[in-house]
Amino acid sequence: MKILVVGGGGREHAIIRALKKSPRCTEIWCAPGNGGISYDAHCKAIAATDVDAMVAFAKEEAFDYVVVAQDDPLALGMVDALAAVGIPAFGPDKAAARIEASKVFSKNLMQKYDIPTADYAVFDDPAKVIAYVEEKNKYPVVIKADGLALGKGVLICQNHDDVVEAVKEIMLDKKFGASGNHVVVEEFLTGPEVSVLSFCDGKTVKPMVSSMDHKRALDGDQGLNTGGMGTVAPNPYYTKEVADRCMQEIFLPTVAAMEKEGCPFKGCLYFGLMLTPDGPKVIEYNCRFGDPETQVVLPLLESDLLTVMEATTHGTLAETEVKFRDGAAACVILASGGYPLAYEKGKEISGLTEGQLPDCADVTVYHAGTALKDGKLVTNGGRVLGVTATADTLPQALDKAYAASENIHFEKLHKRSDIGARALAAMQ
Ligand code: AMP
Ligand code: GLY
Repeated sequence: MKILVVGGGGREHAIIRALKKSPRCTEIWCAPGNGGISYDAHCKAIAATDVDAMVAFAKEEAFDYVVVAQDDPLALGMVDALAAVGIPAFGPDKAAARIEASKVFSKNLMQKYDIPTADYAVFDDPAKVIAYVEEKNKYPVVIKADGLALGKGVLICQNHDDVVEAVKEIMLDKKFGASGNHVVVEEFLTGPEVSVLSFCDGKTVKPMVSSMDHKRALDGDQGLNTGGMGTVAPNPYYTKEVADRCMQEIFLPTVAAMEKEGCPFKGCLYFGLMLTPDGPKVIEYNCRFGDPETQVVLPLLESDLLTVMEATTHGTLAETEVKFRDGAAACVILASGGYPLAYEKGKEISGLTEGQLPDCADVTVYHAGTALKDGKLVTNGGRVLGVTATADTLPQALDKAYAASENIHFEKLHKRSDIGARALAAMQ
């Protein structure tokens, strides 16, 4: 099969590496891809959001299957547009992608179908947000832009001034564009967070191994929110008991609700959960694989990814095995100093041969933001590389990932030194 993966970060690289293990995958492309991905796939410079150009390219190259990995092309209806020209694709259609693309949609869905989540109210009038929060007078309070906002549309407000500022940013200054026409004001929840990615075919849901993201830029969960500085899998807080409860109270009801609403979800449904004192609750849904969760989840997948993906498209997931190996995985992100604010690009990366560490068993380097310049690999983004190791236990995986990352260098490299520390503490 000739396959196209749409996107160009660490998640897409991990998907490509997993797909390439399939004996049925004979040719693989990535658009737009990046410098490091080009060692593993043919790259084509088409923006992931350019639906028309992507569909034309897919037709021209006669791809047998397309994996739409990124949120915005899904929200723009790329899967629908591919289906219209007869090309099957992995991912939800436009209607189902609303589960991530509109927080108003997802919150209303959870309320209607009694799926546990934070209490909330929806507003389109800035003055009403402020009046509502003043009346409740309970801090912190969470303010979320309705639409996609590059992962930056969630503001945790500690006091009244923060709320005024959040409303200004989102609703008046329109920092996230039309995504801020509506906001969701949410009760602040506490508890450990768990990411659970799951395969869905519209009716059946099969969760993958659980994982834990590390969103803050600095050690000790300090500093600004980022796209993710590292991940571990499995997540030790996600015990069998919690998993059973999530399946009954959250996963099955969500998939049934989407079907009932006339927009069955096919693809990867990501449950961002918080294990609160009142039980597991949904913090957010994503309509795609998480980044950098994918970089620890897929290396533990034993089943053939292509077969499982096709089963979600064709509605045959119930009879398709989705198996993960025992053991653990850890991913340490190597970022450009300054990220998530201003950072420099174009720094030469040393230590890698054809994008990978030589002679480093059980370690894979996933490229998030790299480019090839005059035949040399250089940094080209905030998150540059993800170093993933697998092992029998989490401490071993972490040791291997950190030891391997010591062999990679570029100017102003920044990484957290405590990825997995909370998970290890929870295992004590
Ligand atoms: P997101 O950008 O949607 O991934 O959200 C960023 C982070 O905000 C989440 O991972 C949570 O840590 C936090 N968050 C979102 N909603 C809530 C909430 N209702 N209570 C507490 N924290 C939240
Ligand atoms: N790691 C969080 C996300 O992919 O949204």
